[in-house]
Amino acid sequence: MLDYARFWINPVHPVDRVLIGRHESNQRSNYYNRFLERFLMDKAVTSSAMGKKLLRVLEGKREAIPPIWLMRQAGRYLPEYRSVREKAGGFLDLCFNPELAAEVTLQPVRRFGLDAAILFSDILIVPLALGRKVEFLVGEGPKLEPLGDAASLATLRGFADENVLAPIYETVRRVKGALDQRTTLIGFCGAPWTVATYMVAGMATSDQAPARVFAYRDPETFEQLIDRLVEASIDYLIGQLKAGAEVVQIFDTWSGVLGPEQFERWCIAPTQKIVAGVRRQISDAKIIGFPRGAAAMALPYVEMTGVSAIGIDWTFERSIARDALQKRVPVQGNVDPMALLAGGPALDREVDDVMKELGDGPLIFNLGHGILPQTPIANVERMLKRVRG
Ligand code: CP3
Repeated sequence: MLDYARFWINPVHPVDRVLIGRHESNQRSNYYNRFLERFLMDKAVTSSAMGKKLLRVLEGKREAIPPIWLMRQAGRYLPEYRSVREKAGGFLDLCFNPELAAEVTLQPVRRFGLDAAILFSDILIVPLALGRKVEFLVGEGPKLEPLGDAASLATLRGFADENVLAPIYETVRRVKGALDQRTTLIGFCGAPWTVATYMVAGMATSDQAPARVFAYRDPETFEQLIDRLVEASIDYLIGQLKAGAEVVQIFDTWSGVLGPEQFERWCIAPTQKIVAGVRRQISDAKIIGFPRGAAAMALPYVEMTGVSAIGIDWTFERSIARDALQKRVPVQGNVDPMALLAGGPALDREVDDVMKELGDGPLIFNLGHGILPQTPIANVERMLKRVRG
């Protein structure tokens, strides 16, 4: 196993260290020079990034008022979402209806003036495109046919079915056409580990025991599943970027259940392959990684995957994120969704702390995980007002 401590003991390359101190120097660090070079070289990126806060932050710049979007910003806490959702029928019917999916994607952007729209879809579209049965039962969450051995693995399609994915790309095109010059469109996929946890268990579980046991008992077969998901995710993200997404996020909601060795094999390595695979075709692709619960593995994750930015969950100590992570890549996060639900002074303190610890560097203001359905809209407004001043 790698000596992970070395990432933390020496968190900034020696050559950058003298230049990076935020107070000591007005010289640009090598880190920022690298960003700037890439920024200036690519005129297409330059012209679109000029007006888009979120893209500027992904180029390594700091914004006095950071760009803001919220994970799961389109969802049941919004009455306008609930009404479209009812009209669409089931949750998957909504995902596969480009007109209605585009509408719910745009709803929170219109209501709150957010800096980004995130495609309305789900991470479990990929198993569907690989030929698995996927259902969403009201009040129960996702149901899939469990995949537990080499025989069931053999029933997976070789490649993601483009006919299944076509309506999703159409949603991306529609949303892109409707967004103004300042709003960034984010596409996404689930990370292979997180998607595999649902495929193996066939449902949401609290600890992802079925996938963890499978990965320990039969790592070779499990790796085949992960490899299929890596390939499908590369194609899927490239499809979204070609259809108009400007940034993609890889959601690894369940990476925090993995021990360090397992984390490297099932979270870092597949994510690194996806980043490299997408960039083989789209060299300047902007990719945000969200390894929820990564804790001490966050720095090796940043170093080894090559993501453009890292999303941190609310348990991540913010001054450590600032000193170790934000000196390398922009950081996204990390208000506790429960503080947003609670509102009041506790929410204010949480917002102020994010700004105090992370606001002096490249920051994408967000939650540390998805917004909860019971969240009062007034609390979202209160949070936005506090960040925007
Ligand atoms: O606004 C957005 O963020 C975009 C849409 C989006 C959804 N799911 C819509 C959704 C995104 C980015 C996701 C990602 C997703 N889906 C993840 C990773 C992020 C995370 O939240 O951890 C995961 C693990 C899933 C799988 C999933 N989808 C589960 C476990 C559930 C059931 C739990 C629940 O919240 O109901 C879903 C359903 C789902 N995906 C809903 C929405 C709006 C609720 C379904 C409904 O409206 O009935």
